[in-house]
Amino acid sequence: MKSASAGPVAQALLPAASALLPTFGEKRSHECERGRHECLRHIGLLLLSTLSLSAAPTYKDVSSIFAARCYGCHAAAVKMGSLNLQTWDGFQEGGTHGKIVVPGKSAESRLYLLITGKEMPAMPMDGSKLSPEQIETIRAWIDAGAVGGVSIEKSSDASLPKIEPKVPIKPQIFDLAYSPDGKLLALAGYQEVRLVDPATKQELAALKGHAGTVRSIAFSRDGKLLAAAGGLPARSGEVLIWDVEQRKLLHTMRGHSDCIYGVAFSPDGQSIATASYDKLVKLFDIASEKEIRTYKDHIDAVYAVAFTPDGQRLVSGAADRTIKIWNVATGERLYTLSEPQDGINTIAVDPTGKFVAAAGLDKSIRIWSLGEKEGTLLHSQIAHEDAILRLAWSPDGSELISSSADRTVKVFRAGDLTELHSFPEPDWVYGLQFAPNGKSFAIGRFDGTLTITP
Ligand code: HEC
Repeated sequence: MKSASAGPVAQALLPAASALLPTFGEKRSHECERGRHECLRHIGLLLLSTLSLSAAPTYKDVSSIFAARCYGCHAAAVKMGSLNLQTWDGFQEGGTHGKIVVPGKSAESRLYLLITGKEMPAMPMDGSKLSPEQIETIRAWIDAGAVGGVSIEKSSDASLPKIEPKVPIKPQIFDLAYSPDGKLLALAGYQEVRLVDPATKQELAALKGHAGTVRSIAFSRDGKLLAAAGGLPARSGEVLIWDVEQRKLLHTMRGHSDCIYGVAFSPDGQSIATASYDKLVKLFDIASEKEIRTYKDHIDAVYAVAFTPDGQRLVSGAADRTIKIWNVATGERLYTLSEPQDGINTIAVDPTGKFVAAAGLDKSIRIWSLGEKEGTLLHSQIAHEDAILRLAWSPDGSELISSSADRTVKVFRAGDLTELHSFPEPDWVYGLQFAPNGKSFAIGRFDGTLTITP
């Protein structure tokens, strides 16, 4: 996924060159008094200046996109994520997690990863998306070196009302989970979890009071409790435990120094494991709301965590390209699976607890068998054309579903990763799970829509 800095310029050059060459070719024969060699240089210079006018985007082009689409939340007055995109200084400073571009490397730039939905939280966070052309402008500008300039001062759309910090217009779906009896579907949203009836899609309840975006949710095995995790970027992680039947908040746990992206119930329902942007995995006791243990070895954000069904081991997947297997009780790291070529977004332990599937930015799904002292890679396959966002096993372990930033959801035979179905998606799918009866699966999208397939 590393892109060469010449990429966009070269790409832009091709159509420009073929469009212009015939004209200049003619001119050369009629008008150009220089020698052939000189004349070709002449053409080259003209082409280059044409390019810098039209094809290679400048910071001004990028800034006008920010002005139209981002200043509502990232300007001097409203710095969500501590990010001010209204000045070049602010842009360079970055947000709560530091710089947002790596010049010349869009694929490593948080700005690009977030506007393309390859990493969470996708931007802009108002339920809209940048157009493919706007995304391409930003990509080309980063890959050409991310050269600075003067920012557009105000939102370019004068008709936009000025400008309260907006909360997302539609209730986006950042994760979803079925209750074990299949009668409820919980949808993670901005500061709330909605409970809907999967049969009718009617909303039954909204569980409110979460600090920020709820990024991960899980039901306890008996279906009585729901854990909803999130927190405040660069400040703290938070997990709320709800009594599902009473719709009542039972416990609040705080820990971590950044948001939680993954939460899992221990099979006995007494503790929860959390995976955080702060690079740590933690275990909390629910009754006492106390932190019990920290699992420390990842060197980048941890996005996913799962228990094996016997409750003995934890599996975590991180942006550091690894999956780690831990002894729950001792905190010891048992081993590391390190075949992936890029960051991990999602992991899924199969119903027997013998296998783990993981996927992320390298577009591949890998399945390992989990041994006592090491894992063995069984399958590795490029499964999508872009970053993979979510994976889930069917309850009988025979199928695996995946969603990707390429805007498809795919169904694979788990035994050999044969692709069985591919569904085009209107938007990024961050919520994906089989119904407990295995007959259908739920797809929850960034644009707030929910589909149950078939
Ligand atoms: C509706 C409000 C909203 C809009 C519009 C919005 N953002 Fe954000 N943005 C946020 C919030 C809130 C955060 C912090 C969220 C977090 O990290 O969980 C954030 C964080 C970010 C970050 C990460 C900062 C860091 O270091 O963690 C980047 C990069 C970003 N936004 C880029 C953009 C861009 C580019 C646009 C316009 C295309 C945009 N945002 C539009 C609300 C918004």
